Amino acid sequence: MPDTQGRKEPKQFHADVPMASQGFFLRGSGSLDWGMSNRLARIFNPESGRTVMLAIDHGYFQGPTTGLERIDLNILPLAPYADALMLTRGILRTTVPPSCTKAVVLRASGGPSILKELSNEQIAMSLEDAARINASAVAIQVFIGGEFETRSVHNMTRLVDEGLRYGIPVLAVTAVGREMVRDAKYFRLACRICAELGAHFVKTYYVEDGFETVTASCPVPIVMAGGKKLPELDALTMAYRAIQEGAAGVDMGRNIFQSDAPEAMITAVREVVHNDLKPKQALELYRDLKSKRKRKTKTRAKGR
Ligand code: R5P
Repeated sequence: MPDTQGRKEPKQFHADVPMASQGFFLRGSGSLDWGMSNRLARIFNPESGRTVMLAIDHGYFQGPTTGLERIDLNILPLAPYADALMLTRGILRTTVPPSCTKAVVLRASGGPSILKELSNEQIAMSLEDAARINASAVAIQVFIGGEFETRSVHNMTRLVDEGLRYGIPVLAVTAVGREMVRDAKYFRLACRICAELGAHFVKTYYVEDGFETVTASCPVPIVMAGGKKLPELDALTMAYRAIQEGAAGVDMGRNIFQSDAPEAMITAVREVVHNDLKPKQALELYRDLKSKRKRKTKTRAKGR
């Protein structure tokens, strides 16, 4: 029985202070339900409004990728530096300890390997399992202009419907076929279609010409895809420009884990994304951290 004796009369109503109506910090996300908003707020830092996602889902279509051969050894040490991990449920359950509290963006599409037509994907997991895993979002490829364009768009819309039932946001990943032109016109088309059809955020590539028109015409947050490994300064410059031109973060894989010093690189990327650090300064930070790490390893080796 609750103790009802001596109960104090409530007095602190602050009747003269109107209750503030709260907005939500992410573009196009003001009308979402609480669970979905809360999940997005785990991926995107509410202070900067931005995210650094570490993409390590490559194995779902290309098997062990350079840098991802041993996720337990090479990638787990990077997790503390990321806002979110983008990965498959297989790697999550086998390799990532549940004590890891980073936001999880689960790869939810798959089917063809690199040996086949990649646009022929299907939904590859249930949202019930994503909820069981406590995922903050699910990710799916959308192949605009690809051979199986309609199927991939339909996969996405089905996932969005399921996501709405469970309060799990959907990240649409604009996948570009080899034969397609990677320009602002194409990405405006692809990103806008994804947003119009319900994606909660979109991952897309950076283009030097007109990226700001891609972000401006997409009513949900855009995260920049990393792409193939570039020299560190180029990767940092690309991230910097994408952010300055309206991206709400990055989702980078190879440019981080294939770097000579992945911890230094993800730290530099964080500074670019969350603190607007300029590319040259970010490169200096990367180099500095890289040489400190080298010295540490040498000292440790000598001590053995
Ligand atoms: C791309 O479509 C997949 O999601 C990749 O497996 C991954 O996210 C790509 O990351 P990055 O291009 O930065 O290595």
